[in-house]
Amino acid sequence: LPISWEAEADLIVVGGGVAGLTAARAASLRGLRVLTLSKGGPTDTSTQYAQGGIAVVAPKRDSVASHVKDTMEAGAGLCDLAAVESIVSGGQDAIASLTDLGAVFDLGRDGKVSRTREGGHSTRRIIHAGGDATGAEVQRALNAAGLPVLFGAAAARIVTDPMSGVQGVIVLSDKGYGVVHAPSVLLATGGLGQLYACSTNPPGATADGVALALDAGATVADIEFVQFHPTVLFASGGVGRRPLISEAVRGEGAKLVDTEGNSVTAGVHPRGDLAPRDVVSKAIAARLRGLDTDHVFLDARSIDGFAQRFPTITASCLAAGIDPTTQLIPVAPAAHYQCGGVVTDVNGHTGVPGLYAAGEVARTGLHGANRLASNSLLEGLVVGERAGIAAAERKGITAQVRDSVLWATARLPRAQVQQLMTDNAGVVRDNAGLTNAYSQLVAAPKWGSGDVTALEDSALTVTANALVLAASARLESRGCHTRSDYPETSDVQRHSISIRMDEGGEL
Ligand code: FAD
Ligand code: SIN
Repeated sequence: LPISWEAEADLIVVGGGVAGLTAARAASLRGLRVLTLSKGGPTDTSTQYAQGGIAVVAPKRDSVASHVKDTMEAGAGLCDLAAVESIVSGGQDAIASLTDLGAVFDLGRDGKVSRTREGGHSTRRIIHAGGDATGAEVQRALNAAGLPVLFGAAAARIVTDPMSGVQGVIVLSDKGYGVVHAPSVLLATGGLGQLYACSTNPPGATADGVALALDAGATVADIEFVQFHPTVLFASGGVGRRPLISEAVRGEGAKLVDTEGNSVTAGVHPRGDLAPRDVVSKAIAARLRGLDTDHVFLDARSIDGFAQRFPTITASCLAAGIDPTTQLIPVAPAAHYQCGGVVTDVNGHTGVPGLYAAGEVARTGLHGANRLASNSLLEGLVVGERAGIAAAERKGITAQVRDSVLWATARLPRAQVQQLMTDNAGVVRDNAGLTNAYSQLVAAPKWGSGDVTALEDSALTVTANALVLAASARLESRGCHTRSDYPETSDVQRHSISIRMDEGGEL
């Protein structure tokens, strides 16, 4: 590759959302020279769009044990209990650090932090900011910390040495290809929502971290578990990022009804509309098929002060010509969250010396087969901080990128991947669809290096391939993986499916 610039750091953080900036701050506070890369701008993150809030154990009438139990139940048998206990226990300290940075959370009439409820939670424990703009406040506070971030800089390959691990990153920026030498790299690249035609995720959620980690020799697991959020604003014709209607709207009393006015979740789960997210999405998908329609409705007309409590959602609805205080809101499920990802421990270690991961890209074992609502910002804060601290263990190790080569990689255009995945690997899957998707993904032509779009298309293609392989191997329905040809949950299949890349680039 023609390399036009070089830099050096103790730690390269890839990603400027909640996990990346929390990690960068923790590492900087421990004296590491940290360079954070972000392929977008300061608010081009999923963090920016988070609505409902952050799940943190409340001081009274709640307990770590109760939050752990709710998380394990939502995770449908695949959570790692020790990881859940460890991460859930870190919630209050993580919020204290964020508050120290200047983040402000909403207060109730009693002057105490206000807490709402979301699907799968047995109590009101979700703290929020700006009503329904929690992520924007988290991102604002972290951006204001003034950490050095190279915006418009995409990590293209992590360079490793078989003996000593990570050596640095090949980066594509507006100055062309560059190389950053560093003994540690922390992936905080967010999720994979752009694998699907309809998603709540921003355009940069193209699974880059999964592809980078596989190429660097790390293991990916639980990647078949893509969470489809049940209530995304259904406005005809739109593709790309779709406005979310937070679960907190149901937490405050809104009801899901079908196009004939009947409850969607009656008789489905004891928690009704506040059942775990996978249960509600499946109930909606069944109703859509049954009534041959493309949306159901959320009736939020009974919520007092809706516009003050949910200003972001009100603005999205009004922009689509819907007044949520007098009209039903049309909603449908859309791709929202990657429950699996790069396998790490609760301190972000991946198994490749010097490679760490945190946030949505990582699979710590917290989410299992289905993430509990508002556990993601929590994980980004808790594991982000720990991974930043862990990276200090490599300080002083000499690192030098010697081979600045980008391999040819399988690549289909984004729109084609989205069509394949939406048609064949969405809320409900079967063998015929998955086989069809796989045959097209493995036949994808291999191309050499290109621009950022090419990098993103490659990441989407390789991750789609991994996801379809895992979904084909999981011969059961569990959490957010539903197979019409294997509708039951099977004890025999109660384990994670791991994927690695061989030296020839095959999964
Ligand atoms: P992100 O915040 O997505 O940041 C990823 C960063 O990586 C970006 O800076 C991006 O530019 C950068 N990047 C990616 N690839 C590269 C590359 N190759 N090179 C350089 N940079 C790269 N969770 C909750 O807990 N509560 C909620 O209320 C909630 N609401 C949500 C609402 C919406 C609409 C969405 C989309 C998600 C919501 N989630 C919520 C989930 C949560 O917001 C995300 O999981 C979380 O913010 C992810 O944080 P992150 O730091 O891992 O990644
Ligand atoms: C929401 O507000 O419904 C999203 C919460 C989440 O994804 O955790």
